[in-house]
Amino acid sequence: MKAAFINQHGGPEVLQYGDLPDPVAGADEVVVDIFAASVNAADWKSRSGGYGQVKFPYVLGRDFSGEVSAVGPGVDDLRIGDEVLAVCEAGQEGAYAEKIAIKAAIVAKKSASLSHVEATAIALTGLTALSAIEDTLKLKRGETILIQGGAGGVAGFAIQLAKHIGARVITTASDANYAYVRSLGADEVIDYNTCDFTKMASNCDAVFDTVGGDVAQRSFAVLKRGGRAAFIASGAQAPQPARGDVISLRPPVGRARAPLERIAQLVLQGAVRPPEIRLYRLSQAAEAHRVSESRHFRGKLVLQVR
Ligand SMILES: NC(=O)c1ccc[n+]([C@@H]2O[C@H](COP(=O)([O-])OP(=O)(O)OC[C@H]3O[C@@H](n4cnc5c(N)ncnc54)[C@H](OP(=O)(O)O)[C@@H]3O)[C@@H](O)[C@H]2O)c1
Repeated sequence: MKAAFINQHGGPEVLQYGDLPDPVAGADEVVVDIFAASVNAADWKSRSGGYGQVKFPYVLGRDFSGEVSAVGPGVDDLRIGDEVLAVCEAGQEGAYAEKIAIKAAIVAKKSASLSHVEATAIALTGLTALSAIEDTLKLKRGETILIQGGAGGVAGFAIQLAKHIGARVITTASDANYAYVRSLGADEVIDYNTCDFTKMASNCDAVFDTVGGDVAQRSFAVLKRGGRAAFIASGAQAPQPARGDVISLRPPVGRARAPLERIAQLVLQGAVRPPEIRLYRLSQAAEAHRVSESRHFRGKLVLQVR
C-alpha cells in the first residue's frame, strides 16, 4: 500500500511517500481501505517527537473514513464493503495510508449523507468536542460558554454543539475568521489579536480552551464562581487555576463506536455540519503539516487518499 510515513523525527521534510506492507486483520479487527484521513495538530507534534520515540517506519494519522476490505476472526457486526469512520486508539496512529488494521469495536458505520472527506473531518474533532462539551463540562441550555480558538476544527464542532444544546457562545478568532465562526453559530466573536478576551468576557459558566499556552491560564479569569473550564491543548493534565472557586478539567476523549454514531446523528439532525475543509493528496502530507503547524488556518485539513 501507499503511505506517508517517517523514518526519523523532525520537521515536515521527514515525511516520505512510498510503499509499505499491507496490514492484516487480526482477531476482532477489520482492515479498512482508507479514502480520506485527517491532519490533526497531534500529527506534527508526533512527527517532531513530542510524544516520545516510535518504531520506524512510522505512519502518522489518527482518524479516517473508508471502506471495510477484510474482516478478522471474531468480528460479526461489520462486513466487507461497509463504509466506516474511526479514530485510532490512543497511542496508535496509521491513517496516512491506503489501508489500516483497527479494532472493530471502535469503528462506526458512516452515514451516507456524509462524504469520506467530511466524515474524517468530524471524527476526532467531533469526538473531542463531544467529550469536552457534553461529558466533561456538561454544558446546559441557557449557560454561557467561551470557546477559545473558534476557527479550528475541534472548536468549530464545539460551537455548533453548544448552540444545539441551547447555550450562548462567545468565541475568539482573528478578524479574517469572524464571518466563518458566526456562520457556525457563535453569538459573539472576540478578535484576540486586537482585544484582551479577559476584558471582553466575564461571568461565564464554562470555558473550552483549544489554544493552550498562556490563553489556557488566562481563561480562568472569565469564569463565574463555580465555573468549569476544559482544556485540550495543555497536555495530559488540566492546568492549575490561580483561583480556588473554579474547576479545571481535562476531557478524556475515549475511543468508542457510540460517540461516533452520535456525531453522525447530530449531522443527520442538522445540528452540526462539517467544517471548512482544505484538501491535499496523501503525497502532499508534508505541505499539509506546514499549514497545520502554522496554527492559523480555518476548519480542517484533510488528505484525500483515494
Ligand atoms: N484528544 C485530544 O485531546 C485532542 C484532540 C484534538 C485536538 N487536540 C488539540 O486541540 C488543539 C486544537 O486543535 P484543532 O485541530 O481544533 O485546531 P488547531 O489546528 O490547533 O488550531 C487552529 C486554529 O487555532 C486558532 N488560533 C490560534 N491561536 C489562537 C489564539 N491565540 N486565540 C484564538 N484562536 C487561535 C486559529 O485561528 P486564527 O487563524 O483565527 O488565529 C486556527 O483556526 C491542538 O492543540 C490539538 O493538539 C487535542
